[in-house]
Amino acid sequence: MIPQIADFPAARFRRLRRTAALRDLVQENRLSVKDLIWPLFVTDVVGADAEIASMPGVSRLTVEGVVRAAETAAGLGIPAVCLFPYTDAALKTPDCQEAWNPDNLTNRALRAIKAAVPELAVMTDVALDPYNANGHDGLVRDGVILNDETIEALVRMALAQAEAGADILGPSDMMDGRIGAMRQALESAGHKDVSILSYAAKYASSFYGPFRDAVGAAGALKGDKKTYQMNPANRDEALRLVARDLGEGADMVMVKPGMPYLDICAAVKSQFGAPTFAYQVSGEYAMITGAVNNGWMKEEVILESLLAFRRAGCDGVLTYFAPHVAGLLAED
Ligand code: PBG
Repeated sequence: MIPQIADFPAARFRRLRRTAALRDLVQENRLSVKDLIWPLFVTDVVGADAEIASMPGVSRLTVEGVVRAAETAAGLGIPAVCLFPYTDAALKTPDCQEAWNPDNLTNRALRAIKAAVPELAVMTDVALDPYNANGHDGLVRDGVILNDETIEALVRMALAQAEAGADILGPSDMMDGRIGAMRQALESAGHKDVSILSYAAKYASSFYGPFRDAVGAAGALKGDKKTYQMNPANRDEALRLVARDLGEGADMVMVKPGMPYLDICAAVKSQFGAPTFAYQVSGEYAMITGAVNNGWMKEEVILESLLAFRRAGCDGVLTYFAPHVAGLLAED
């Protein structure tokens, strides 16, 4: 509802835009470093710890490198990092068993970070794609992505991550029923305080292209993910998925990608009032970075792109810009 306002000239909106001090006073939303989750790519493949061609400025890191990045995050006041593994191709199998190996790359990196920077929250990704010979988030039989069998694998994976010290589990797989299964397994195993940030409204998006290069899944992926990720045309379905995941025990929910889906972010926050996150995904990072690096847009566009999520109602954002933005906000 828009309250009645005075007519011109009694109402002059420019009065409150006249100086920076006045603009600051009436600013409705703010972006803080405390709203950011920094996604990190970890690898132990020799030579793979290099910059990702489609994500200028983002590199895959060794376990040691990831620990240093975690220390940097904590130093900058970033509250959380999220780990994504670039797995050795030799460890990718159709049954994805490396996913729940207690000593897999993610779990080793997790333990190392928790030992070095215990106060930093660490989030993990729960999906089979980094371990799957065919690049899918679920187990595949005769070209079909299996729902219920995949959930069993995801539960094992989630438990191994909880065991290794994850603070936040991020199921990004889009199987039906996984949140309830994970929540129940966590309770039974004594991991009552491990939180779940569900990728509840995750769309089948071309904006993930650079990420698939980053984790080495691009070449492996057979077909597309449209039988489990959402149709970009749908809005009501996103709300039903969020309701479902909160009902099954998700503590927080995510909308992904971010900027093209701000309408979904706003609807989710206003309808449920739950902690709501957006993922400013690899393709969004690539577009903005490409334009800034070419001088086509000013660097401030990064802050504008992130503030938009706060205005839409998001509590926080996963963004590859996190450390850079921390620097920009400190100057602000
Ligand atoms: C896969 C996963 C993806 C992303 C996060 N987890 C890609 C996909 O679904 O294919 C994308 C993140 C990004 O693009 O930055 N479980």
